[in-house]
Amino acid sequence: MSQTTGRVGHDELATLKLVALEGALEGRTTVTCSELADRLDASNQTASRRLQRLEDAGHLHREVTGNGQLVSLTDEGERALQREYADYRRLFEGDADVTLRGTVTSGMGEGRHYISLPGYMRQFRERLGYEPFPGTLNVELSDESIRTRARMDALDPVEIDGWADDERTYGPAFCWPAAVETTDGERYDDVHVIAPERTHHDADQLEMIAPEKLRETLEIEDDDELNVHVSEQ
Ligand code: CDP
Repeated sequence: MSQTTGRVGHDELATLKLVALEGALEGRTTVTCSELADRLDASNQTASRRLQRLEDAGHLHREVTGNGQLVSLTDEGERALQREYADYRRLFEGDADVTLRGTVTSGMGEGRHYISLPGYMRQFRERLGYEPFPGTLNVELSDESIRTRARMDALDPVEIDGWADDERTYGPAFCWPAAVETTDGERYDDVHVIAPERTHHDADQLEMIAPEKLRETLEIEDDDELNVHVSEQ
């Protein structure tokens, strides 16, 4: 049995890469099991089983037609390949940093509450080395960055533990060191991207914490564009 990476095995990932190379990342493309089997050096049955597993894991959509199957990658499938890509970048370019783009946006005022909680504040001081401004700066990611965000999974975050008070429990969080850059070339280096899990499935927003109120320090407001360079601890 193949070793699993996330929800599918390496054999399935190799198959996913092949169908993506055939055009299934940009849209729907026709593949046949015999063609795939040839390229994978496997039997038709094996190729068919791998497609089935990829479909079951939500990595691709397929539709059987007269002369093969119409296949397209799902967002989850693309994220799986983005994670592989991040590993290869680290291997051959020695650089796993991810640059994401988006626009400043306002959230629902929840950041302030969570960031100020003593169980988190204490860990921020100890593990990030500063006391964050109470709040999170929200950035609405561009379509391209929503897709490339999965590369952040290859980066090692600072882990903040979950904790509890008398009333309830609070979940863990991941913090990736980052730098923010405005379109005027202003840069702020001591930022962390904060998220409750490595990969958000609803990943169109990025939240950041910093020692200062970034809206003031960088003189930014809603709809301003930002580049966020995410790295690892
Ligand atoms: O209302 P919203 O959820 O966007 O914000 P919040 O998390 O309660 O944070 C309060 C305000 O400070 C918001 O306008 C954030 O965009 C801003 N902020 C900032 O400028 N720099 C930070 N390091 C954190 C928050």
